[in-house]
Amino acid sequence: MINVDISNVWGGITLSDLLALEKEVAAAHEQLADGTGAGSEFLGWKNLPTRQSREELERIQNAARRIRENSEVFVIVGIGGSCLGSRAAIELLQGPNRNLGRGRGDPQILFAGNSLSTRHWNELCRLLEGKDFSIAIISKSGTTTEPAIATRALRWVLERRYGTDAARERIYAVTDPCAGALRQMAAQEGWESFTIPADVGGRYSVLSPVGLLPMAVAGIDIQKVLGGAAGAVERYDLRSFENPAWLYAAVRNLLYRKGKAVEVLASFEPGFQRFGAWWQQLFGESEGKDGKGLFPVAVEFTADLHALGQLIQSGQRNLFETMLRFEPSPQKCTIGSGWNNLDGLSYLEGKTLDYVDEKAFLGTVAAHVDGGVPVITMECGQINEETVGELFWFLELCCGISAYILGVNPFDQPGVELYKRNMFTLLGKPGYVE
Ligand code: PA5
Repeated sequence: MINVDISNVWGGITLSDLLALEKEVAAAHEQLADGTGAGSEFLGWKNLPTRQSREELERIQNAARRIRENSEVFVIVGIGGSCLGSRAAIELLQGPNRNLGRGRGDPQILFAGNSLSTRHWNELCRLLEGKDFSIAIISKSGTTTEPAIATRALRWVLERRYGTDAARERIYAVTDPCAGALRQMAAQEGWESFTIPADVGGRYSVLSPVGLLPMAVAGIDIQKVLGGAAGAVERYDLRSFENPAWLYAAVRNLLYRKGKAVEVLASFEPGFQRFGAWWQQLFGESEGKDGKGLFPVAVEFTADLHALGQLIQSGQRNLFETMLRFEPSPQKCTIGSGWNNLDGLSYLEGKTLDYVDEKAFLGTVAAHVDGGVPVITMECGQINEETVGELFWFLELCCGISAYILGVNPFDQPGVELYKRNMFTLLGKPGYVE
């Protein structure tokens, strides 16, 4: 079970604050469980760990096998909730440099359709030169501009390289069961397609084919990921402050009410960076509305202690930290002997890197608490497939409860539409004239 430790938040809130919130937390959890809260038509994510049919899972695994056999590179085309989750899982489990040295049999995984940058596109074209590749177009709505432009371009590259029929075998679509242009295109072109259930929104879709297909292509055991998430469904149904989801959701709301409007999520694992980006989107897009919401910022320690540490330690006191910890790697690294101790490190000789990391963590918590920063600690266990599944589901649950406590709909994103409307008007898209 994920352990949420709140022993370092008492400078910011009190036990009676926490106990006074109990009824609100219980009501928020109830709303999620019973489907009586705002946006309840998008609660399908709760059942994703158990609802994938055996046939759909087999189809995902078969497609992944084919892609691994015939591709040196697999390109995931998608933006926001359609790509952040798979990237989070792949990098946490396989490291940020997982692509180096990979190719046919275990393809590199690249991402496209998540920007409008010409430089990014040109770089992708260079990386695909002379390489066999396949693509998955992932879009719930099937109409998002960035992935739609990338799809057009990549399809053209594929058709030129393999011919129309063979290109068709290298394109996979993951989209809504019925609605949207991508569903229509997949049917018309005969692309193999997978379904994002209609009642699952983008940022809650990582445990659907949106995340599962890319993870399977990366060689991740998706049954184990789903197993970890399925265990979480039961484990975190507890209706009391013994539930770590309650503690996390409650404490972040209390701190927010006390003026801590920024939540810094810090992990000590470089492989967690993309997971941090997924968390940022999950909480940012779910809670940031109606003039409310914590600003979520994901950082990587110790690297960011040398970049943002100063601000966290003694800048504006409007933030709190959630520090995420994993168990040390089973493979140990020991600090060796040095050259006449010129580097002054001999006192660490024979100690493991984990030992130093642990002290850095404890030292950082103590310093930040001293500096007036409440710190929540989240201990997540070993980094493995089950933990990844558990963490995804746990954080989605926390987000739902937290948003209901905040009094907002966790499952819509009306604010995202405005930039699109402006952009379409400026581009002269039919139907968007000023
Ligand atoms: O969470 C969300 O709904 C969004 O972040 C979407 O995932 C994102 O905008 C991409 O949308 P789509 O999958 O429809 O292309």
